[in-house]
Amino acid sequence: MARRAIVAANWKMNGDLALVDTMVSGLLSIELQENVNVVICPSSPYLSAFAVKSKVDELNAAISIGAQNVSEHKSGAFTGEISTQMLQELSVEFVIIGHSERRSYYKETSTQIAHKVSAALNAGLTPILCIGESEAERATEQTKTVLSSQLQPVIDEVGIEKFIDVVIAYEPVWAIGTGKTASSEMAQETHQFIRHFLAQANEIVAVKVPLLYGGSVNASNCEELFAQADIDGGLIGGASLQVEQFKIICSAAKGK
Ligand code: 13P
Repeated sequence: MARRAIVAANWKMNGDLALVDTMVSGLLSIELQENVNVVICPSSPYLSAFAVKSKVDELNAAISIGAQNVSEHKSGAFTGEISTQMLQELSVEFVIIGHSERRSYYKETSTQIAHKVSAALNAGLTPILCIGESEAERATEQTKTVLSSQLQPVIDEVGIEKFIDVVIAYEPVWAIGTGKTASSEMAQETHQFIRHFLAQANEIVAVKVPLLYGGSVNASNCEELFAQADIDGGLIGGASLQVEQFKIICSAAKGK
């Protein structure tokens, strides 16, 4: 098998300690196919609780903890920020970087995102690098240009060889939280473009990078999306807050 599949839960600024409990308990009975990892990314105040409960309950080793953001700086006077070292102390293994909400509301640039990916990799954390076009960009046929401009600064910063340890999440902005999912054909076509783009830099690496789809994935559409040749799982928002629905989505993922 060339590639593992990953289903990551992005709780965003939702959830509470009760959800941490319900989720860990629910995940105890999850059935995963071969070569699948599940990553739960709660808000940072709950990372520690999730880590402790996962350990006490002896959660399946295929289930990891992820953060939703990380600073590009090592330490210092950066009020409100969280460092890679702090995440590591909490048993965090993955970190979402460059989500469209951070790009648009917090004005994160592709250059800053590249620095964050570099910081994460240097610390041994696996970045889940998010890219995606807006509705207007899709309508004006700029999708490929936009995705290339989001990927290239990261390739330039860390080098394509390091992408062997990177996960990419394609999330069309117009599909996030809207209930409008990209059709499986459209998602596959875009994922194929992303893989070709990486392959221009390094074919061997391109085959190995898990490409996740995100944007209104739910228990009804996950199977068709995950069956596509270049879709290696998903980054799940709203549906990841509902344990039973999230488990169905996780069970639909399969390594390729
Ligand atoms: P929804 O699944 O709620 O559309 O959110 C997708 C997302 O932004 C995950 O990062």
